[in-house]
Amino acid sequence: MAKFISLEGIDGCGKTTAFNFIKQWFDKENIKTIAVREPGGTKISESIRDILLNKKNQSIGDNCELLLMFAARSQLIKEIILPAIEKNINVISDRFVDSTYAYQGYGRGIPAKLIDQLHNIACNNLKPDITFLLDVDVKTALKRVADQGNKDRFENENIDFYQKVRHGYLSLAKLNHKRFVVIDGTKSLQEVQNQIQQNLISIFSE
Ligand code: TYD
Repeated sequence: MAKFISLEGIDGCGKTTAFNFIKQWFDKENIKTIAVREPGGTKISESIRDILLNKKNQSIGDNCELLLMFAARSQLIKEIILPAIEKNINVISDRFVDSTYAYQGYGRGIPAKLIDQLHNIACNNLKPDITFLLDVDVKTALKRVADQGNKDRFENENIDFYQKVRHGYLSLAKLNHKRFVVIDGTKSLQEVQNQIQQNLISIFSE
């Protein structure tokens, strides 16, 4: 059966490098997989992403942000994720609904119950089979973001916001310990990749 895998973490956690590594692993193993990112992944969802990430849009309210995340996600599920799973093709997603619980829920203070309800309505409660969480302390992560330059709207948030988001992710991992694999993103690139690879091997040899 096809698997749906997501990758999560705060900005600057090394997600992009890990995501590329996962994609290459699937290619190397000849396992058919579709890779997407959130918010985005379809023409409509990428347009929504532009609104969400544009730092000129400082006036976006918390509920507007939340609903746009779900609008983008709902379209991605309809156009890409469900059709792939129906064809027994694996899907890997750079972020999924746990980002909403972490950023809009723990970060902005939106109640988890409301996110649960929206996820039910917009996404039929679809959850990944496995979620890799790259955990990095906020100072290290924000330094990496600053070094990269050209910050988007989220990356301009302060350290308090990111502390809440990181704490949120770790709480989600505890609540959903069967689905989450927490990886220490402060370890060397080789160690991070080895750990991801070992997990992928065990998932795909079942
Ligand atoms: P990200 O995927 O990290 O892109 P890049 O690597 O190009 O910076 O950026 C997406 C931003 O959107 C990130 O700051 C987290 C935020 N986000 C939410 O706040 N809630 C969500 O549900 C999702 C999917 C993303």
